[in-house]
Amino acid sequence: PTIHIITPTYSRPVQKAELTRLANTFLHVPNLHWILVEDSQRRTPLVTRLLRETGLNYTHLNVETPRNYKLRGDTRDPRIPRGTMQRNLALRWLRETFNPNSSQAGIVYFADDDNTYSLELFEEMRSTRKVSVWPVAFVGGLRYESPKVNAAGKVYGWKTVFDPHRPFAIDMAGFAINLRLILFKPQAYFKLRGVKGGYQESSLLRELVTLGDLEPKAANCTKILVWHTRTEKPVLVNEGKKGFTDPNVEI
Ligand code: UGA
Ligand code: MN
Repeated sequence: PTIHIITPTYSRPVQKAELTRLANTFLHVPNLHWILVEDSQRRTPLVTRLLRETGLNYTHLNVETPRNYKLRGDTRDPRIPRGTMQRNLALRWLRETFNPNSSQAGIVYFADDDNTYSLELFEEMRSTRKVSVWPVAFVGGLRYESPKVNAAGKVYGWKTVFDPHRPFAIDMAGFAINLRLILFKPQAYFKLRGVKGGYQESSLLRELVTLGDLEPKAANCTKILVWHTRTEKPVLVNEGKKGFTDPNVEI
């Protein structure tokens, strides 16, 4: 199957570095299609060039998160999930592009631009029949969060401290979905409004599967194959108000 990777991204000083690192990972993965969705009014030249130069198979989309979802300046309303409109646009693109009955096999994975992905992860998700799950490191104040798997290899709950009673107490990086399921449930999207923190993943997954459907991967959820790393914001104080370095040099 083709692995369709959905990545929301937005302009900031480290964007090109993040996308370069991601592309370098994806170049090692056979049969991959990268759906990169910019949170912007237009597709930017920086991202357009970067995608072209990677040689990857990609689709470049954009949708700007509306201003009323943003606070003044840099900061966003913390109740508004990041990347949600962008992921939903990619889901719509898949439904408009592939026919549920005749389409070729595919897997859908949401890969934020700042996480760290092992190559083994992509091999694990390839056999997803409905929704597969695995642990994610550095989330919820733990070394890792994980689905709970019983002796029969079934998921029966969540090993998390933060609200383990969520229907799907799992980070965005912790699951993959069979494309067929996305196409056969065309009403399933991430909810934009009225979603409490940590419930975004549940808002989509509850439309698609029940707990008993989940397929544990990564050696019954005992191996860490993805890390929820976050990139430090670079200190650029010496640029001053007018900027010190040549603004024509892309970083
Ligand atoms: C955590 C989860 O891992 C995310 O999947 C989830 O979207 C997010 O919380 C949330 O619910 O708000 P976190 O590291 O805090 O992730 O979020 P970011 O990595 O900053 O953002 C997630 C994705 O959205 C990234 O790919 C980022 O580039 C993108 N994003 C972020 C935008 O497209 N626009 C923004 O304004 C901010
Ligand atoms: Mn992140």
